[in-house]
Amino acid sequence: MIGTKHLQVYKTDILVIGAGVAGLTFAIKMAEERPDLKITIITKSKLGETNTKYAQGGVAAVWNHEVDNYQKHIEDTLDAGDGLCNRQIVEIVVKEGPQRVQELISWGAKFDKENGVYDLGREGGHSENRILHYKDLTGWEIQRALLDKAKTFASIHLHEQIYAIDLITQHHLGHTVTRLTPGITCYGAYIQDKRKNEIEKIISRITILATGGAGQVYRNTTNPTIATGDGIAMVYRAKGRLENMEFVQFHPTALFNLAHENPDFLVSEAVRGAGAILKSTDGAEFMQKYDSRKSLAPRDIVARAIDNEMKIRGDDFVYLDCTHLDKESFIAHFPTIYNKCLSIGIDPLKNMIPVVSACHYMCGGIKVDEMGRSSILNLYAAGECTSTGLHGANRLASNSLLEGLVFGSRIALEVNSMIDLVPVKDGIPDWNAEGTTVPKEMVLITQSWKELKEIMSSYVGIVRNNVRLKRALSRLHLLYEETEELYQTTTLSPQLFELRNLITIGYLVTRSAEMRRESRGLHFTTDYPDKLPFLDYTTL
Ligand code: FAD
Ligand code: SIN
Repeated sequence: MIGTKHLQVYKTDILVIGAGVAGLTFAIKMAEERPDLKITIITKSKLGETNTKYAQGGVAAVWNHEVDNYQKHIEDTLDAGDGLCNRQIVEIVVKEGPQRVQELISWGAKFDKENGVYDLGREGGHSENRILHYKDLTGWEIQRALLDKAKTFASIHLHEQIYAIDLITQHHLGHTVTRLTPGITCYGAYIQDKRKNEIEKIISRITILATGGAGQVYRNTTNPTIATGDGIAMVYRAKGRLENMEFVQFHPTALFNLAHENPDFLVSEAVRGAGAILKSTDGAEFMQKYDSRKSLAPRDIVARAIDNEMKIRGDDFVYLDCTHLDKESFIAHFPTIYNKCLSIGIDPLKNMIPVVSACHYMCGGIKVDEMGRSSILNLYAAGECTSTGLHGANRLASNSLLEGLVFGSRIALEVNSMIDLVPVKDGIPDWNAEGTTVPKEMVLITQSWKELKEIMSSYVGIVRNNVRLKRALSRLHLLYEETEELYQTTTLSPQLFELRNLITIGYLVTRSAEMRRESRGLHFTTDYPDKLPFLDYTTL
């Protein structure tokens, strides 16, 4: 990889796994503070192929102080999170957010303006207009600006097609490591250059996980194919702490996808913010039955309402009605959505858009503190792979890019204050590939992946119950055993690593769902339809 023939000795001060909003923000802030440190960023796909790139709606931040204030954004976030947010973290993100967005603008990101002032959009659960956006391509613009900025630093080394397999800890030095072992420490990662077959290692003083979400564990998802939960699964295997894995966010309005495209195309919540209305297939509005905020209620409520309406009527989709909106303004704000709809024969200003819910965001993940520290020493994490306490049981729209900016920046501060005390670890062994043979048929991997998506979509979706969860766990167990056997005996490939990671994610979501005996936020079970009066806080 990385310009050297033998990576067995590749060393770096800081290894960043992932180049979306969280990883790049960290790297830029770190390089600004400490140009003397070598920062290596790896991404498993093409540079820029991230969840970040697909973000449509925008970044939430208190901007217009005449009508908005921090307290309102804090309350909206807490309300969406349904009792599980950490108030201290919510206050940090909301109050530091506007500075981070300002910094992003100074690095070259553009957001739409009207008459010289930022045009602030509205999305579900927000009590004010506070979403900065660039048309319906906000993520694309942020990704572009961050990559351009990162490339200006000589100390940042960006590498694509490098797949991180596992974190290196004491376990690889021959010590027994359990979830109760104190002082588990990260020394870097085993990686595979996807253009070669060998497994190599990167030794780092500090490692940052910014690996994004896990939407690919479901059949229908807005997440691109890179979203396979690798960072979360790596931390689980390294015996680090995770939390809140049962809280999987389904976006209410993905375009009804007859062509089975992967990912599903998102119709941004900002379209409802601009006045579009959800209707059932007979053309009747239905959201008034579920919440006074109607089509702009928080996502968990809207997704469940859609699921219920489809079940009652036996329909495959509901409609999003934009036909009453101003054509010129719609096309100016949502050119990508407009063109995508046209490409499948729907003119959104003339015909209603068929939409369904699709897996969109992982609210739980690697448990980190207010400085992004994980439970493993010298390992930090930021972005969608984490559970910071910001989202609780349900994320407020457009708070994710904001979280990546704030935590990427906070980790840089923290690493700057401690890295000089961290030595480089010697004596890390090479990857042990003994006992493996040539790859078996690919169909063993692809078929298991399909089965996994079916299990999760049928049994661990928007509405859950004990019977479905139990059934999912027994099916997952079988998939796990078959995949482990393959893993122990086959030459390893990124497809197999991803399948293994997704099975872990499926298990964690299902087991966490089983342990939560109440309905809260994104977790709804017909066996325990009410909220517990106390927090039934469960850790894995
Ligand atoms: P990503 O941007 O997903 O980056 C992950 C990186 O990790 C990639 O570079 C990938 O290659 C790398 N990686 C992963 N695994 C490995 C591995 N094993 N080895 C090496 N590299 C690896 N949020 C908002 O706030 N506002 C929005 O408007 C919004 N709209 C959205 C629309 C869509 C369609 C989607 C899918 C999401 C949207 N979100 C939105 C959510 C938001 O985009 C993501 O949560 C956020 O961008 C995640 O950023 P990240 O840096 O954590 O991860
Ligand atoms: C959207 O544009 O609807 C997505 C916003 C988000 O996921 O925060």
